[in-house]
Amino acid sequence: MGSSSWFMLFLFSIASLHFHQPIVTVRGDTDLIEKTCKSTKHYGLCVSSLKSNTSSLKSDTKGLAVIMVGIGIANATATVSFLSSQLLSATANDPLMRKVLKDCADKYSYAGNSLQASLQDLATQTYDYAYMNIMAAADYPNACHNGFRRYPGLAYPAELTVREDGLKHICDVVLGIIDLL
Ligand SMILES: *[C@@H]1O[C@H](CO)[C@@H](O)[C@H](O)[C@H]1NC(C)=O
Ligand SMILES: *[C@@H]1O[C@H](CO)[C@@H](O)[C@H](O)[C@H]1NC(C)=O
Repeated sequence: MGSSSWFMLFLFSIASLHFHQPIVTVRGDTDLIEKTCKSTKHYGLCVSSLKSNTSSLKSDTKGLAVIMVGIGIANATATVSFLSSQLLSATANDPLMRKVLKDCADKYSYAGNSLQASLQDLATQTYDYAYMNIMAAADYPNACHNGFRRYPGLAYPAELTVREDGLKHICDVVLGIIDLL
């Protein structure tokens, strides 16, 4: 082989090294997801949520926090829509129920805003502010629940229990990830 062929072979080896790189990285990042989720309160929820977004495989720990916050925003927003549809149906002749549901929709919308604000804090690496905003987001479902407790005649809908727990668990996971930053 002439020296130019050796050179081509050399280039080819470099190229194949790079070609192998992504495989190593992907496996490493699945490890990162699992390792990160182990330090949260809800390992299963954490892993399945993060793996549902392919960006997680290319993310560092802070990126995983950002993705989980996005999942929380979607969750809170879905509950606002659910409550709004409940408001439109069934309760036209029940002003108290309407009022309490409307308050709940507002609270879940504030939860979404707090989660949104935490994205800014993560971007500027002001992690204690991010932590506070996530704590606030996790607390808004309590404010909704308390609205029902104020009126013993009003049953707290089972569907809201599921949504309350769902959002709180997502926030717990985010807090666990922020603790690592
Ligand atoms: C994945 O996460 C990123 C970062 O939060 C977000 O921009 C993107 O919309 C998410 N993708 C899906 C499919 O939800
Ligand atoms: C989001 O909200 C729903 C409630 O409809 C809940 O069942 C679900 O587990 C929540 N969590 C995630 C990660 O989507």
